Amino acid sequence: MLEKIKATSSFIQETTKFEPEVGIILGTGLGGLVKEIEMVHTLEYSEIPNFPVSTVEGHQGRLIFGHLEGKRIVAMQGRFHYYEGYSFQEITFPVRVMKDLGISHLFVSNASGGLNPDFEVGDIMMLTDHINMFPGNPLIGKNLNELGPRFPDMSQSYSKDLCEVARKTAKENNIDLKEGVYVGVSGPTFETPAEYKMFRVLGGDAVGMSTVPEVIVARHMDMTCFGISIITDSGVPGQIEVVSHEEVQKVAMAAEPNLTLIVKKTVGAI
Ligand code: HPA
Repeated sequence: MLEKIKATSSFIQETTKFEPEVGIILGTGLGGLVKEIEMVHTLEYSEIPNFPVSTVEGHQGRLIFGHLEGKRIVAMQGRFHYYEGYSFQEITFPVRVMKDLGISHLFVSNASGGLNPDFEVGDIMMLTDHINMFPGNPLIGKNLNELGPRFPDMSQSYSKDLCEVARKTAKENNIDLKEGVYVGVSGPTFETPAEYKMFRVLGGDAVGMSTVPEVIVARHMDMTCFGISIITDSGVPGQIEVVSHEEVQKVAMAAEPNLTLIVKKTVGAI
């Protein structure tokens, strides 16, 4: 794996001559951030050696290199999900490569179903923690000590400092920013009412099908992480309605400007 990471990052370095300091995974709801990036380079995933290729509708596949709020960033437009059939190593490979390119901070966005009864569809939730309910962990297997420790600490997976910046930005801009625990699941089925209830009982505020593998790998490499979610549907008893990918995309698009603003300002504050 180390050789693969090095080969891929060397290719990217030679092609772009760009040294990013911040990585952003543009999940659902962060598409609009692309317009704010002063682009220097883009690379299609299909051009990058060892990179997987995204298959989900509405998810493109390219790396964007450029400047955002004065920071040198690399953004993944299109991410990889476990339900697409990728292994956890494949899903998290780009995070390993971005770290090798020089990033110290990782920003991630996603869509999720709300479990907390105080949340409404369309709300934005900053992640303060997560619960890994995926059927596995990307760090299972031989540990590569060059990358990180065998038993990584997860006591502060989402940076308290960055959360504070986001809180301040939200307040200044009259954005009602919720916060809570994200439960990561494999999907691709949305939850049954009984499953939503179970995840609430377990301590979750929202449930979604991404982010946890990437953040585990980022924390393994001691990166500072920030995660933000759009509540696109409700898993609260009495409020559950039929949910579709289209509905999720529609709600996410409406929340995009506020999400974009919070992420942009938080990147700027690093
Ligand atoms: N469950 C899991 N993943 C999701 C949901 C949900 O309700 N909404 C958007 N992604």
